[in-house]
Amino acid sequence: MTSMDRLKQMAAIEAVKLIEADMVVGLGTGSTAAFAVEALGERVAKGLRIVGIPTSERTAAQAEALGIPLGSFAIHARIDLTIDGADEVEVGSLNLIKGLGGALLREKIVASASQKLVIIVDESKLVEHLGTKTAVPVEVVPFGWQATKLRLEDLGATVNLRVSQETTFITDGGHYILDCKFGSMADPKLLESQIAQTVGVVESGLFIGMTSQVIVAGASGIRVLVKKVYYPDNGISKAKE
Ligand code: A5P
Repeated sequence: MTSMDRLKQMAAIEAVKLIEADMVVGLGTGSTAAFAVEALGERVAKGLRIVGIPTSERTAAQAEALGIPLGSFAIHARIDLTIDGADEVEVGSLNLIKGLGGALLREKIVASASQKLVIIVDESKLVEHLGTKTAVPVEVVPFGWQATKLRLEDLGATVNLRVSQETTFITDGGHYILDCKFGSMADPKLLESQIAQTVGVVESGLFIGMTSQVIVAGASGIRVLVKKVYYPDNGISKAKE
């Protein structure tokens, strides 16, 4: 295991401690979330009773192999707690870029149905401003994707159709992904709504105002970031740590 993997696993194990008996738990996608599914599998094997809602076919297969009972939205439309990774976390706002793993649509549906969204990352994912390191993955309908690409370019992005093993990447929902490099963002919330209004777009990997807390693993250990709080007496917003 690499030292980066060890950090991811540390954050994952910490997050899985938050899961209580009889919870409906959203199961994220990606290499960090996979460590959480693994740790949850160990707790389930010891008798913890929960139901998992996976955010991808990949995660569903991993959870099934570990004996984690899986449910669906047909029975569990409300989720108690979701644990997922992220590609960028904006310190302070805890807004996110997600979807480099291609599961952003199901991840966003699960996150928005969750009472609590706990994000697990190693410290390399923390940024001052979203877009600094990563493109924003945007899931689009295959029909007319070239026209959708032009509209996203009009918003200021450099846009690339995602390709995997020399063929167009297809999401679990049967869509394409356009990776949109905007650079450092001044107003991610505005950008999210502009992308959402673009014809042909299914969903974007900008997760605004959804995170409850971020568990960050770094060389000096674990720290937990929680949402910015607003102090009305002096008008100053502060990030609590
Ligand atoms: C999956 O679509 C993504 O949103 C992942 O959660 C994100 O890319 C983080 O993945 P890693 O934990 O593998 O970095």
